[in-house]
Amino acid sequence: MDVQWYPGHMTKTIRQMQEDIRLVDLVIEITDARVPISGRNPDIDKLAGGKARLLILNKADLADESANEAWAAYFRERGFSCVLTDARARGGMKGVSAAIDAACRKKQERDRARGMKIRPVRAMVAGIPNVGKSTFINSFSGKATAKTGNKPGVTRGKQWIRLGGKVELLDTPGLLWPKFEDRRVGENLALVGTINENILNEEELALLLISRLKEIAPGALGQRFETDEELPALAFLEEAGRRRGCLTKGGGIDYARIARLLLDDFRGGKLGRITLERPEDIE
Ligand code: G4P
Repeated sequence: MDVQWYPGHMTKTIRQMQEDIRLVDLVIEITDARVPISGRNPDIDKLAGGKARLLILNKADLADESANEAWAAYFRERGFSCVLTDARARGGMKGVSAAIDAACRKKQERDRARGMKIRPVRAMVAGIPNVGKSTFINSFSGKATAKTGNKPGVTRGKQWIRLGGKVELLDTPGLLWPKFEDRRVGENLALVGTINENILNEEELALLLISRLKEIAPGALGQRFETDEELPALAFLEEAGRRRGCLTKGGGIDYARIARLLLDDFRGGKLGRITLERPEDIE
């Protein structure tokens, strides 16, 4: 799998993140609950050094419930304040408020002890593309102030969203870059659709998905596509293609179409709630 991320782009995003982080007390890092480790960029630890931190496992509605709990426990054991959210349905936002309060209590107590005025906690959201940063900002602020979707190149003016006098949230999320020196990380991000699809072969990706799901979610694909899961991945894809009428004019299998269908079904949660990466997979 040949995946590239552009160094020029990276330098600019690092600089922007460094600037923004200087302005805040708290960094709210968002990752994808289906791939919590692959969806993070560990450089955030260095970038956000010294700031209060909150880790959000978003898209929890698409991830396996037992895995969600296991991941939350995993991160809490490692000292993170961690909350599960479904930002699209505004799920988990109360937990986020409570976690922000708790994460910033120390700082406020310190300020109070020094006789300083307690001012609202300034926070920013950060994460790699497509984890739901804009959706989260919208849901958490309860207003349509942040635009969803990736719009690189839009001028960034510093705007703060005031939330009940207690928190001020930077309206533009910090963009981290995916880190996929490890092949498995690149695969995970491609499967959930974080990495630009155009640079990956969707048929290969669909075959990979078939093999992975047979292990981690037995029955999910077989049921959805009414196809025998015991078939090797390619034969499964072909049979599913025939069943779904994904055929070329000549009557052959339209591999691109069935691959896309399969990937879309997975990404949209139509195969059930599936987590690709589990705590026990991490060394
Ligand atoms: P970003 O700022 O981090 O790049 O991500 P953004 O908020 O644009 O969200 C990326 C996609 O993920 C959007 O879907 C968004 O609706 C979806 N999303 C965000 N949070 C959640 C969540 O908690 N659960 C689920 N299921 N989806 C979530 P899209 O396909 O780009 O747009 P749309 O189809 O929602 O309009």
